[in-house]
Amino acid sequence: MKILIEKDYDLASAQAASLIAEEIRKNPSFVAALPTGGTPLGTYRELTRQHQEEGLSFKGVTAFNIDEYEGMSPDDPNGYYYFLHDNLYRHVDIAPENTHVEDVRAADIQEACLRYEEAIRQAGGLDMAFLGIGNDGHIGFNEPGEGIQSITHLTDLTEETIQANARFFSSIDEVPRRAVTVGLGTIMKAKKLILLATGENKAEIMAALLGSSAITTRLPASVLWLHSDVTVIMDEAAASLIKKPAAPAYMAAAGV
Ligand code: F6R
Repeated sequence: MKILIEKDYDLASAQAASLIAEEIRKNPSFVAALPTGGTPLGTYRELTRQHQEEGLSFKGVTAFNIDEYEGMSPDDPNGYYYFLHDNLYRHVDIAPENTHVEDVRAADIQEACLRYEEAIRQAGGLDMAFLGIGNDGHIGFNEPGEGIQSITHLTDLTEETIQANARFFSSIDEVPRRAVTVGLGTIMKAKKLILLATGENKAEIMAALLGSSAITTRLPASVLWLHSDVTVIMDEAAASLIKKPAAPAYMAAAGV
């Protein structure tokens, strides 16, 4: 696990954007799973800037929403497809047919989840999953206690997640209680993982994640310790409670 600590939100976002842009430049048919939320906004702004000012092209890129609320329409401003469209897709030259979201309105959600996994497979598999982290340690909407091998599935959001996301809605009652998310197994199959954590309110969970390399479904992001190509990017605020070097020396030496 590679750990990068940047001074502030903008620098951490620029770092994440430059790692993503580097992959797109190397591989124009890059396939990525993308998160929503407050954390990636700066990264999407910087990717947009690189598209507008430096010719970074998304023409061959395929993007998959990491998650979406159950029942949400793609043109609902509270939805996660809308978020990615509004904050990234509409500013760059990505082909609309290459932007995917879970079919959260399907009559048979389980079958729709399998179709999403198949669409990822058909696209050639994920070259990268770009991740944020919840205060309860979720990645995507894989909440504590869920299976480590899971594929795309419908999940109940925890009370903590519902409260954290209420800021995007006019009242907490409007926050959907369930969402479809790619699974931990789906994320772990991506060739590269980037986890971006910023702000003081992520300090506790990042200290828990990086303070020990124990893997537990109580802290879903801890599965990242098993992946061979993970970069964790934090700003100083998110890194402020980390007390000791994350990886035991033998892991660092092996480049894990
Ligand atoms: C959302 C997602 C979530 C968020 C996490 C952090 O698509 O995948 O795992 O990354 O809840 O959200 P913010 O960035 O709003 O703190």
